[in-house]
Amino acid sequence: MSEEAAIRAEMEQTQQQALTALQTVQNEAELLAWRNAHLGRTAPVMLFFSRLPQFPKELRPQIGQAANQVKLTLEAAYEARRQELQASSLQQRLSSERVDVTLPGRRLPLGHLHPSTQILAEICAIFGEMGFQVYRSPEVESDENNFELLNIPAHHPARDMWDTFHTTRPGVVLRTHTSPGQIRAMRQMAPNPLRVILPGMTYRYEQTNASHESQFNQVELLAIGQNITFGDLQGTLTDFARRMFGAEVHVRLRPSYFPFTEPSAEIDIECFLCGGKGCTVCKGGGWLEIGGCGMVHPVVLRNGGYDPARFTGFAAGLGPERIAMLKYRISDIRYFFGGDLRFLEQF
Ligand code: PHE
Repeated sequence: MSEEAAIRAEMEQTQQQALTALQTVQNEAELLAWRNAHLGRTAPVMLFFSRLPQFPKELRPQIGQAANQVKLTLEAAYEARRQELQASSLQQRLSSERVDVTLPGRRLPLGHLHPSTQILAEICAIFGEMGFQVYRSPEVESDENNFELLNIPAHHPARDMWDTFHTTRPGVVLRTHTSPGQIRAMRQMAPNPLRVILPGMTYRYEQTNASHESQFNQVELLAIGQNITFGDLQGTLTDFARRMFGAEVHVRLRPSYFPFTEPSAEIDIECFLCGGKGCTVCKGGGWLEIGGCGMVHPVVLRNGGYDPARFTGFAAGLGPERIAMLKYRISDIRYFFGGDLRFLEQF
């Protein structure tokens, strides 16, 4: 065999071995190892180039060309295998990861209004339709507005009805009810007739339980004019209850006492759970209390700037959280300001 035939046979064998080895390559690591072994600097095909000077001058161009051909063949085979491997791993991923395009999308977490805010808005809307204007008054109040001008002098035993948060400033308290807003509204409007609601937070130094919290909202109702009667109060509250709870609901005014109204009453709504028969929620009574009310006391009318000989008026204080508890069957008032998302997210 001539020298040229021998080297050509050797090249053929090198190429065949490399191509056979390439068929067994199954992943990227093996592919890399194959490239080092068969196309790297010390690979057999590369050695042909370094051996060129050993051949007679006239043979060198052909041998060089043939070696180059082997190198190109191996490079092309390498590239083809690389693409094959890539395609099959993509194929694998596509068949293992199914996407169900008919699934509904995931909802983004959206914030919403606090249940107290929602019920306050609803109450304001109902009274708004009846012609009441919203009047804002501050949560930090003078003792004078919160008590004195509402016919509750210092040391009067009626003060026991409101356990008060006092501030470090003498004569300044956190309002225990929205009634001090009555004084502010009257003093601004007198001697004109007025019809306002005063929504907002109130504070009491209370032992908390399922129906008592140290902070809660109230909505004060105040209407002053000529010839306003207890019947107007009753009609307004009944109309409100029907719009809030439905046309069938029964409202009861139960005689009570507040220093700033005369006569005074508690507002009861028929228990939603037992329909008035008596159950654990209404503690057997069949009725649930949602606030107090009455005819504005002549002393309070005078303190507000109205002549009690010419003007009368009614007032009420409703508990929005109590109303929400009734409407949504919430068993504990402490949920409202407990900050538990499991509760809040239900509204
Ligand atoms: N302010 C009273 C309370 O918080 C409720 C009330 C308001 C009663 C208006 C009568 C008239 O207990």
